[in-house]
Amino acid sequence: MKKKKILIVDDDELIQMVLTKALTDEGYEVKCDPGSGDIVNKIKSTFPDIVLLDVNLPEINGVHVLNELKNSGCSSQIVMLTADVSAETAVKAMKLGAADYLTKPFNLEEVKIVIQKLFDKALLEQEVERLRKTNSAIFSKELLGDSESIIDLKARVEKIAEARVSSVLITGESGCGKEIVARYIHRKMFGNSAEREPFISVNCAALPESILESELFGYEKGAFTDAKTDRKGVFELANGGTILLDEIGEMKPELQGKLLRVLEERSVRRVGGKEDMPIEVTVLATTNKNLAQAVKNGEFRSDLFFRLSIFYLHIPPLKERRSDIPLLAEHFLSTFAVKYNKKMIRGFSNEAISLMTAYDWPGNVRELRNLVERLVVLENCEQILVSHLPNWLKSGETAAQTCRDSGFTLPEDGVSLDDLEKNLIIQALERTNNNKTLAAKLLKISYDSFRYQIKKFGLD
Ligand SMILES: Nc1ncnc2c1ncn2[C@@H]1O[C@H](COP(=O)(O)OP(=O)(O)OP(=O)(O)O)[C@@H](O)[C@H]1O
Ligand SMILES: [Mg+2]
Repeated sequence: MKKKKILIVDDDELIQMVLTKALTDEGYEVKCDPGSGDIVNKIKSTFPDIVLLDVNLPEINGVHVLNELKNSGCSSQIVMLTADVSAETAVKAMKLGAADYLTKPFNLEEVKIVIQKLFDKALLEQEVERLRKTNSAIFSKELLGDSESIIDLKARVEKIAEARVSSVLITGESGCGKEIVARYIHRKMFGNSAEREPFISVNCAALPESILESELFGYEKGAFTDAKTDRKGVFELANGGTILLDEIGEMKPELQGKLLRVLEERSVRRVGGKEDMPIEVTVLATTNKNLAQAVKNGEFRSDLFFRLSIFYLHIPPLKERRSDIPLLAEHFLSTFAVKYNKKMIRGFSNEAISLMTAYDWPGNVRELRNLVERLVVLENCEQILVSHLPNWLKSGETAAQTCRDSGFTLPEDGVSLDDLEKNLIIQALERTNNNKTLAAKLLKISYDSFRYQIKKFGLD
């Protein structure tokens, strides 16, 4: 670790000598200056962490030097040395931004404690700043990317938000960032009050039609057998804010008609209700389906499609904006490094980034994020190298392809990936006589990953 630098500015040679000895013994790098000449610039060009600054310098008052240093934005912490036992000078110095003061003649133990405390405080401040940054990185749900398509997309969002349009259709492959874009629109629309305004998302594919309907529109007591009380729907709850209808392409035609009515009339009626309630909600709808095609196939109502697609945003798949890959990878790395307390992992080697940029990412940003999370959990290194990357990424084929090429076909009714993994691990162990190194090789994963898997499935 780099030694902390302390500069002693005092013309008294005895003080210089005693302090230098005591502080060098503590492990600090110590420099001395008698404080004559252009002392302000001399201090600044030394970049000390802490300056011990005498008040009674031969040519100038130390408090004046302190004032000039602070005015010029010097970030060193300054401790005043004063022979004045009345608190007057000390109070003045503290008001001007001194970190602390010591009165002569001083007790060396006290000097050491004051300095140690200042370094502890600086460390704490750094930590708070770092946490603040990473917290906002995790929770701000930032829309990252400096590719032309993302810059262009952001510019369109600005216009859409300014016009306060009532609905936007967001399209793009799975995992490419539709929800991130939806949240970005919400923030742009509501600016400073975005946190206070509701943002509610509903996944249209996850609920059966009848439940989705009462989820969206609410119901009145007695509307159906289970409706024991009135219940507000998402449209009412999101009133004044934004509602995100995820996977709108999965909504059944009858419900699509009801949604269209809400969009046209800007009011909702609860299931079993008699009154229309005016609402002011921005409806953001996402889909990874080709809706135009779904209209042709008779699966999606054309009138709703036309209504929704007045304003639409398309997010290109990651492979069509490769310049975003390094930025996203580094962002995920630093976020997960903090989350999993793996701060020693600082980045990727150039070769690793090149390989990642060349890969097609069929699962888009989500797949990239998942890979980086896995690397951070499993590796203990300063830099992610090509050797840490999975083979499917290196050979330019996807995991799915490898699986297909090996002759495995997904059964009609699906399969438990966990069971499959566990089973393959057991087979690999059996075939290698429980030699973990060889078993890991058979499964083409690193030894660390293999041990992690064994633990995960309780096989150790
Ligand atoms: N531009 C981006 N900047 C930062 N993170 C992103 C970006 N795009 C996607 N992500 C991250 O990738 C993951 C997937 O993004 P998101 O959920 O928005 O995708 P989606 O298009 O809604 O996927 P799906 O179609 O499966 O619902 C999330 O963890 C998200 O934080
Ligand atoms: Mg989504």
